[in-house]
Amino acid sequence: MERTLSIIKPDGVKKNIIGEVIKRFEEKGLRIAALKMIKMSREDAKGFYIVHKERPFYESLTSFMSEGPVVVMVIEGESAITKVREIMGATNPKDAAPGTIRADFASDIEHNIVHGSDSKESASYEIPYFFSALEIK
Ligand code: CDP
Ligand code: MG
Repeated sequence: MERTLSIIKPDGVKKNIIGEVIKRFEEKGLRIAALKMIKMSREDAKGFYIVHKERPFYESLTSFMSEGPVVVMVIEGESAITKVREIMGATNPKDAAPGTIRADFASDIEHNIVHGSDSKESASYEIPYFFSALEIK
């Protein structure tokens, strides 16, 4: 059993597809172990994406991620990290496989609807960034 952190980004919340995204995870056998809607400050978003601090898109990305509410969730299941990444699709929607969330809904490489931890190491930083142990059931 594995846990991963997923976020429905501000563009996904604005597009009214919270239910659609969650449905795609649930119908692949994954379970929502924790969930809440929050609005990140610029500093919150910068801390979350600290691994990207040297990248050219860091300023724009953290501005976008703090522009409106997001849904953060812990997803649990066998190979949850890989499964969530498969359901999401590639970072750039132009490269995302048909039927993935990003292929179906993302408008561009930045505004790509959804986040998912890319490794066990990332998940172990990202899950406690938003949730205490008591909030994960
Ligand atoms: O989210 P994912 O793990 O697929 O991609 P990433 O390489 O970890 O990048 C994090 C996020 O930064 C992406 O999901 C995009 O929102 C954004 N990004 C961007 O705006 N421009 C890029 N060239 C790459 C990523
Ligand atoms: Mg990533």
